[in-house]
Amino acid sequence: MNSIRFSFDGRQESEDEYQARKKHRETDYGQNFNKRALVTGVTGQDGSYLAELLLKKGYKVIGLKRRTSTENYQRIEGFVDNPRFSLEEVEVADSGSVYSVVERHQPDEIYNLAAQSHVKTSFDQPCYTTQVNTIGVINFLEAIRRFKPNARFYQASTSEMFGKRVDVNESMTVTPEGTDFNSESFQSEETVFEPQSPYAAAKLASHHMVRIYREGYGLHASCGILFNHESERRGEKFVTRKITKWIAGFKSWAEAQGLDTEARHFEFDRDYIHSRRSSYPKLRLGNIEAFRDWGHAEDYVNAMWLMLQQNIPDDYVIATGETHSVYDFMIHAFDYIDISKEEIKDFFVIDSEFYRPAEVEFLKGDPTKAQTILGWETNVSFEQLVHRMLESDINAEKTKAKEKLLS
Ligand code: NAP
Ligand code: GDD
Repeated sequence: MNSIRFSFDGRQESEDEYQARKKHRETDYGQNFNKRALVTGVTGQDGSYLAELLLKKGYKVIGLKRRTSTENYQRIEGFVDNPRFSLEEVEVADSGSVYSVVERHQPDEIYNLAAQSHVKTSFDQPCYTTQVNTIGVINFLEAIRRFKPNARFYQASTSEMFGKRVDVNESMTVTPEGTDFNSESFQSEETVFEPQSPYAAAKLASHHMVRIYREGYGLHASCGILFNHESERRGEKFVTRKITKWIAGFKSWAEAQGLDTEARHFEFDRDYIHSRRSSYPKLRLGNIEAFRDWGHAEDYVNAMWLMLQQNIPDDYVIATGETHSVYDFMIHAFDYIDISKEEIKDFFVIDSEFYRPAEVEFLKGDPTKAQTILGWETNVSFEQLVHRMLESDINAEKTKAKEKLLS
């Protein structure tokens, strides 16, 4: 028989309930109960997943967002009302705004995810990109040095910093011009940086600033060199989401025409759909021969947290170790609605508008250091990632269609 105990709020609880609560308290959740974390870019893809993770672990989370004329809470609606979560407006490029938030909240951990994160946009807005992606980071490093020197800091560095560089074995770094990328090519913490965009150059400047503050002032500051990570919450202008959203839209349109792609009726109606295809705009893409190492954002935010739990701050590559071309992503995604590799060409066009003045052709990370020291691992495969993104976009289209019917 269980004896009766009383919980902290005066409720009666059984021994089993007591033991479960005790265990919960002694795990991550309990250990982090008094910890306060600042998360910049909380309304973005990574910020929203990271805030969710920290809340689950028991943190008090102060999410920082920039001022916008309309609220963009889609990604944070699941936890915006959590009593341990609060939201504040901070412009990271404004030192006063950053100093004030660090001084007032005295955070234990700061995760700096805010950025102008679109590579192509950085060619059109190089100064703004540098203001946010470099000056914004220096503002936090200075704020920590002045107001909370023992706060732990995470900086969102990026695989874009490698640019043209790959390693082919432990002792040689080469530029890929004139060489074929092969399964032996990769980038690791040792690979030389050679950024190819204003975005990457600004991120590399920050990457060095973090190291300088770490070595110069002894700050606990770490950089995650994250390779591409996507999700159901990915911004719609990044190539993976652009593809999955287009496919979902196309599927919904095809169904509205009386065609069911999933049920393979589609197969019988090729001529019909081809004759009406002009009424559905084709998918327009740029360089589909670029290779990326794509993982799921939920796995990657866990790596950010793990970095700040280490006694010694350091930089880590976070990647799956697998690379696919944009075209390969398309093949997997179109296959989901039964459009074969041979047929894809009928559904997209190459548009020079989506090419960049300079391109990063090949990314494949070596996550050995993170796996060994942090115990980090990925749980979502490339195929699962593609399917999860498609399912989410297809469901969103279905909801939209239902709402249209009801209105
Ligand atoms: P994201 O979805 O574009 O989120 C960026 C966030 O930064 C958004 O919440 C954005 O606000 C906010 N922001 C932009 N400018 C700001 C400013 N001036 N002041 C305050 N906040 C500002 O990007 P993400 O994919 O989550 O990436 C998170 C971070 O990781 C970024 O620093 C990115 O560069 C870096 N990174 C991403 C990847 C990847 O593959 N996802 C890989 C390596 C590194 P709004 O919501 O108002 O737009
Ligand atoms: N966005 C976009 N749109 N990219 C296209 C398109 C298109 O229509 N067509 C081809 N691409 C190619 C790009 O040229 C690039 O080679 C590749 O698809 C991936 O582009 P994005 O999805 O925009 O991502 P990214 O690799 O440039 O940058 C992302 O990953 C970085 C880490 O490597 C962003 O999340 C960055 O913030 C991040 O640092």
